Amino acid sequence: METIVKGMEGVEQAAEIIKNGGLVAFPTETVYGLGGNALDPEASRKIYAAKGRPSDNPLIVHVSSISEVHPLVSVLPEAAEKLMEAFWPGPLTIILPKSEIVPYETTGGLETVAIRCPENKVTLSFIKTSGLPIAGPSANTSGKPSPTEATHVLHDLNGKIDMILDDGPVGIGVESTIVDMSGTVPTLLRPGAITVEDLSETLGRKVEIDPAIVAGGVNEGVRPKAPGMKYRHYAPNAKMALVSTKLLKAKDYEVSEEERLQADRQVSDFINELVEKDEAAGLRTGIICCEETKELYRKVRDNASDIKVIGHRDQPLSMTHELFRVLREFDDDNVDRIYAESYSDRGVGFALMNRMRKAAGMTEFLADE
Ligand code: TXA
Ligand code: MG
Repeated sequence: METIVKGMEGVEQAAEIIKNGGLVAFPTETVYGLGGNALDPEASRKIYAAKGRPSDNPLIVHVSSISEVHPLVSVLPEAAEKLMEAFWPGPLTIILPKSEIVPYETTGGLETVAIRCPENKVTLSFIKTSGLPIAGPSANTSGKPSPTEATHVLHDLNGKIDMILDDGPVGIGVESTIVDMSGTVPTLLRPGAITVEDLSETLGRKVEIDPAIVAGGVNEGVRPKAPGMKYRHYAPNAKMALVSTKLLKAKDYEVSEEERLQADRQVSDFINELVEKDEAAGLRTGIICCEETKELYRKVRDNASDIKVIGHRDQPLSMTHELFRVLREFDDDNVDRIYAESYSDRGVGFALMNRMRKAAGMTEFLADE
């Protein structure tokens, strides 16, 4: 069993482990990461092994300041620096052409490197103290929801890593925004808490969206530029489906009060019916809904955890904060089927819905069809 240390107290020991080629799980504002020396191919190999992750899926390199970026890249475009100044430390990962010191083991064989400066004081101090860039994917078993608490890391990686730096539950709950600044056109590769509108505003130009984000995976013949986005991801053990209505989708969730009430009724009726059928067939079911709709769902089992409220639908950050924890709870509860409401893609909602669609393998039912 590894050492788990709360707060700043573990920083020295964690830095020592990194310098000696070991692995340390660390907190960030998005999700927990699994860190190793980004300049050491052997450490990167250990990370892939611990996660059970395919080694063509590159790692994010974490730094504690903008000045630490220079040795890692062959060019640093002014626009990329602008983004660093505007959003770091924070939930933004920037792809740039790599320098020679970054090994291909860390970049999954690519000529580019993903870099981010996370906003967490324990981790910033840990990176600084180690004096090294820290390669860190999310600290989950490959394919599982990313860890938002130290206990999730322990659940997935117990015995496979040297230490966990514990700083309590994370704030945002979904992984950082990834923007590719290595080419001529800034391109969003993964949506996160920093929105494409935020990026465009800072850059003063349009930011493209990698078509694979919207398509949701490689199965539709679109190859994502972030290799990690092609894998089945964030997946609970249960089969999951989203439920919306034609009207909500047609109006992009901007509906009148009356239409809203009707859609809520249609979605909840649809889900309640599916749940009833499944439970009658001996399946265990779970529902994901929001504060605004929770009263519309019927309890089928006398189990407080079968209906999960993930937050307020007008505040997507309240929902990103809960999503992965809730998916893990359904796993612990051995749920076979999860039915979740769909929400708007606006703003941070794009990141929330991206993760929910992936968790559901892109399955979405329309309740008014
Ligand atoms: O919030 C986060 O970004 C968290 C915390 C720990 O910082 N990290 C994280 O790492 O989510 P990971 O490994 O789970 O996701 C990294 C994503 C993958 O989809 C990967 O394919 C993509 O970043 N990526 C990394 N390097 C890349 C590169 N050079 N070009 C394109 N995509 C890259
Ligand atoms: Mg991950």
